[in-house]
Amino acid sequence: MRRKLIAANWKMHGSSAMAQNFVSELSLMLEKSPVKGLAYDVLLCPAMPYLGVASSAVEKCGSAIKVGAQTVNEFEQGAYTGETSLGMLQDLGVQYSLVGHSERREIYGETNELVAAKFVACVGVTDPAVRPILCMGETIEQRKAGQTESVIAEQLASVINAAGIEAFAKADIAYEPVWAIGTGETATPAQAQSVHQFIRAELSKKSESLADSVRILYGGSVKPVNAAELFSQQDIDGGLVGGASLDVESFAAICKAAE
Ligand code: PGA
Repeated sequence: MRRKLIAANWKMHGSSAMAQNFVSELSLMLEKSPVKGLAYDVLLCPAMPYLGVASSAVEKCGSAIKVGAQTVNEFEQGAYTGETSLGMLQDLGVQYSLVGHSERREIYGETNELVAAKFVACVGVTDPAVRPILCMGETIEQRKAGQTESVIAEQLASVINAAGIEAFAKADIAYEPVWAIGTGETATPAQAQSVHQFIRAELSKKSESLADSVRILYGGSVKPVNAAELFSQQDIDGGLVGGASLDVESFAAICKAAE
């Protein structure tokens, strides 16, 4: 049985106060007091400047909520102006990082090779680990041209080739069709399930047990109204939520859909 993961991707939104309040309110809504623990994992990915604030808030309320970055640099340190290293994330108590979000690929030109390098760097650090969530998905043009599976296969293969299949024991995957991100248009549960099943089938060519155990989240206009049906699909193990994660009540409702 795969434990579900519900992740909030705040993108370039939020503030220090919002990060702090969100953690304490969400913890109250989901965990009650005293903390009983959750039947699924909850992750908050605020913008870089608020990672420390979010981590401290989690610690302060003794919550099981995890904190993640939206991207990370593949190098240990050096002259990379504006970038953030894995060591810096570890220093802030950050336990996850998105890798290869479609906005990073499209707006900042991250290639499959660069995404693979970031993934390799993430799975290479331990004590504490920073778990990558590998994001992949097709554009509307690619879907219309019948290329969804070939695009996904290529995005996945570049990471498997660079990191090895065993690395997926320390990682999660998010399928996010680009046409469903921030558009209000959600993939139907059947459309999403079919791609999730395909991703698992691709992984199983290398390792059946890993294909079976890896979590595959769905992202793209997940909302309180569609979350339960999406999460009930056989190969959907949670969600990566953008817009609907900026409001704590709406995000809490999505989390509860995983119960
Ligand atoms: P959305 O974003 O929920 O606003 O569609 C999802 C994402 O980009 O992770």
